[in-house]
Amino acid sequence: LRHLITLEGLSRDEMIALLDLAQFYVRSPGDLPARDQSLAGHTVANLFFEPSTRTRVSFELAAQRLGADVVNLDMQSSSRVKGETVLDTIYTLQAMLADVLVMRDAEPGLPAYVARYVAPHVCILNAGEAHLSHPTQGLLDALTVRQAKGDFSKLKILIAGDISHSRVARSAWQAFSTLGVEELRIAAPEDLMPGANEFAGATRFTNIDQAIADVDVVMALRIQRERMSGAQIPDEVSYHRSFGITADRLAKARPGAIVMHPGPMNRDVEIASNVADGPQSVIQQQVTNGVAVRMAVLATIARNVQARRHFQ
Ligand code: CP
Repeated sequence: LRHLITLEGLSRDEMIALLDLAQFYVRSPGDLPARDQSLAGHTVANLFFEPSTRTRVSFELAAQRLGADVVNLDMQSSSRVKGETVLDTIYTLQAMLADVLVMRDAEPGLPAYVARYVAPHVCILNAGEAHLSHPTQGLLDALTVRQAKGDFSKLKILIAGDISHSRVARSAWQAFSTLGVEELRIAAPEDLMPGANEFAGATRFTNIDQAIADVDVVMALRIQRERMSGAQIPDEVSYHRSFGITADRLAKARPGAIVMHPGPMNRDVEIASNVADGPQSVIQQQVTNGVAVRMAVLATIARNVQARRHFQ
């Protein structure tokens, strides 16, 4: 692994290895056998050109817990607002010897484009790319499901909400397809359903009450208003009534089904507040796992950076 742009193309073995390493890191920093310095001597730059709470903070904590130097750059406070291109921004950080660049951007294709131009020892980690890809989110979702339910092959998983605009849904679909779940369902109102050329193998529903029946995992997704124009944005009250994950709907899932949400949540829109905070919710566990997964990804790519430096 050099860059992590998408989960597409990652083998089942590579994915399992990352989940196993992440599981090792699911502990408080003081409980690690020795102070882990996997990233000592590395500089991680977090370049977030879209808002983030969970992903940015967890990448920062993950890098710090592995001994890296960390810098954070926001679009609003960077020289990109003065017209600097993204490549010039990247070259500037590279010149300061940043060697792991964590990127979030609304422009499709940007992480892969940047990855073509960086120096051989520099890694690009995609922290959210438009509606297309959020690979570390897909991994943390898979880890959370594995912790709660074990064997993927016996699971019916439902992803529900604004699928068409969701990078979380796309990366989750890639992860669960590679890991081999029994059935992956996607459920969305007609106008938020992706085209037929996407989500191969998933069963599609436009009725949430049918979609949720007998599933083991329910993942609720936020309406991505920032990727819609005015008339497309659904009315929140009627959306909750027709598509929200409520306690009554959750009762139709298998007993012990878990409820997930990548955050940020819009309570009582895509998910009822009492479901989000209820006994079946693993939403906080997802957040905890986010740090562990990002530690696993950083530690894995750092080994490869070392190897490339060695041979330069
Ligand atoms: N799940 C997720 O990407 O959350 P943030 O936007 O807060 O990073």
